[in-house]
Amino acid sequence: MNRLSRRALLAGGAALAARPAFGLALPPATTGARIEALLGRMTIAEKAGQLTLMASAIGGRAATALNPPGTGASAEVQLAAARSGQLTGIFNGEGSAWHRRLQQAAVKSRLGIPLIFAGDIIHGFRTIFPVPLGEAASFDPDLARRTARAAAVEASAAGIDWTFAPMVDIARDARWGRGVEGSGEDVTLGRLFAAARVSGFQGRSLADPDAMAACAKHFAAYGAADAGLDYNSVDVSERTLRQVYFPPFQAAFDAGAATVMAAFNELSGIPATANHWLLTDVLRGEWSFKGLVVSDYTADEELIAHGFARDGRDAARLAFLAGVDMCMQSGLYRDHLPALVAAGAVPMARLNEAVRRVLALKAAVGLLDDPFRRLTPGREKRMVGLPAHRALAREAAQRSIVLLKNDGGLLPLAPGRRIALIGPFASGPHDLIGPWNVYGDDREAVDLATGLGAGVTVTPGSGVETALPGGIAAAVAAARLADVAVLAIGESQVMSGEAQSRTEVTIPTPQIDLVRAVAATGKPMVVVLSTGRALALGDAVLSAPAIVVGWFLGSESGNAMADVLLGRVAPSGRLPVSFPIESGQVPYHYDHKPTGRPAAPGPAVPYKARYRTTPNAARFAFGHGLTWGDIAYGPIVVDGGLAWDGKVEVTAVISNRGRRAATEVVQLYVRPRSATITQPVRRLVAFQRLDVPAGRTAKAVFVLRRQDLAFIGIDNRPVIEPGAYDVWIAPSAEAGAAATLVLAAPA
Ligand code: NOJ
Repeated sequence: MNRLSRRALLAGGAALAARPAFGLALPPATTGARIEALLGRMTIAEKAGQLTLMASAIGGRAATALNPPGTGASAEVQLAAARSGQLTGIFNGEGSAWHRRLQQAAVKSRLGIPLIFAGDIIHGFRTIFPVPLGEAASFDPDLARRTARAAAVEASAAGIDWTFAPMVDIARDARWGRGVEGSGEDVTLGRLFAAARVSGFQGRSLADPDAMAACAKHFAAYGAADAGLDYNSVDVSERTLRQVYFPPFQAAFDAGAATVMAAFNELSGIPATANHWLLTDVLRGEWSFKGLVVSDYTADEELIAHGFARDGRDAARLAFLAGVDMCMQSGLYRDHLPALVAAGAVPMARLNEAVRRVLALKAAVGLLDDPFRRLTPGREKRMVGLPAHRALAREAAQRSIVLLKNDGGLLPLAPGRRIALIGPFASGPHDLIGPWNVYGDDREAVDLATGLGAGVTVTPGSGVETALPGGIAAAVAAARLADVAVLAIGESQVMSGEAQSRTEVTIPTPQIDLVRAVAATGKPMVVVLSTGRALALGDAVLSAPAIVVGWFLGSESGNAMADVLLGRVAPSGRLPVSFPIESGQVPYHYDHKPTGRPAAPGPAVPYKARYRTTPNAARFAFGHGLTWGDIAYGPIVVDGGLAWDGKVEVTAVISNRGRRAATEVVQLYVRPRSATITQPVRRLVAFQRLDVPAGRTAKAVFVLRRQDLAFIGIDNRPVIEPGAYDVWIAPSAEAGAAATLVLAAPA
């Protein structure tokens, strides 16, 4: 069922129009009364305990490496903390049996308040879907809703009530490693995927045993880190926050996200975790968010390293008073809030408010009614890795693949062609499921060699970052004996993700040497890229007639890629991030401002905004992606003017001159000719996946309203300005010819 209507896809700039976000609904009166009754009986220490979340002492699979439980954490210590009401919950724990043991301890505590179990369920639990950036390439938010739903079904069966996802940070700098966890550089895509993932995780009702509370993160502007360095300072204007970085959060809250995570970074001098303006004035005051704010991992304690807090006590006070309700992992709230309240440095009312929010969350996910809601024995075994989820993983992976180039129609590979599969990602249980996976297992994922099946010669040729002795010679020999060389190259999964910023967004040199050597054989070459970010590909890779982006596609990686390479399905993914010509261009994003000296495409003209040797353009633009056949766009038609309270149809006829059916992702962009605040050269306002049968045409129809033209104005509030706009219906952000649209002033 397509829950995200076409109207929703067309909503575009409407999110800027100051729609309040509500987040978690207030509990019903009876629950409210239960919460008040509990609050009335709690000691200050028990209240602080309800605000204290810890990494699980018994971590699920990769958890211990990703989130060390900290010194002194053991199963015994956590069971004792649960029994004494000193712990609100744990995250990234291993399995329902451990969660059940802890819950049994918690319900025996003085007030019997249940624990909440959280987890980083980013793109699947055991069945792994494509990394979020890859899935965004599907330009299909409803697909993200479905994969988030499946992830929730699996994770909740293992006792997880609350996921630290979706990550909704706009990421415009390819050096930053965490772009892989989000939806790329564009605000409209970011909003739609944020909302879709929240709906998927939370399902119909948060209290359902297969629902998980969502957590929009990292609030805010974590992706705007200076120089793309993870955790680095962020200094952006309030206008840019409201125009670019806030809308995906607002969309997540509009979709009902129950919680939000404060970011690690400082924001124009004030760390997000201690930023009262952000966490209270904007989030609560303006947006009326009713849910819970959790810190990131030890982010309150890190206020000391930021040079913002004097010590742990000061850090707890600053974070708590700014609006962080629950602290993750540092234990500072447990250790300092009782004394801070006793000293009058923190009002009891603020403490009660935060505890109320925690209890409201526990009530909303059904734990106050049934602490064992998601801990039914046997359910984990039954629900994890369902065949339907595996099928969905294959579909999601197929749709996330982006065909960047296909000169001479090299792809799909004709049946019977002898394939030499070469490269560090050709085979083996590694680099399939992506960098941010607690519970996934590469060994349960299908690699490309397996996906392509029998009759394929496989040789690594090179390591990821180091040469393999004899590797190139073996690869060249294999290529010579084959009809086509498929080169599986790129980044390993540890090269993106948290703390994995890169200074150059390029493919490591040993792999480039491999590509050159294979190219020299003269065999046709297909490049299949593993990557968690946009890459500057360089001439050797670009010399391949066919290039396909495979990101990290999850459990069904190899099958889905083989489906595309062998022509069982047509590629339909589009780039959610611009691939620059050279590394030095980053942060490059399509929706940049024009400058006073824009450089026209074509030969270099002096004193224009371009680099000495490189234009200010992408090699493969945001939104770019090919399919089989030959798609052509007819002229864009704007059906009259746009009255202030009216709407206007903007259309284009898309023809498929190829011999196979195609799905074309048709994109609508706008730009005002002039505005009171300078605007990007283009802004995506809507898109649609349009099916175009072979040899036929289909009409892309968009309906624009004035809300789609909103931007953040001089007073940092949304405005809509009458006047002339350029409007494009195009296959990417840097293609197509504009038509004019005129928005009339109000009558
Ligand atoms: C740190 C990461 O920034 C955050 O995204 C994650 O949810 C927490 N660790 C918990 O694992």
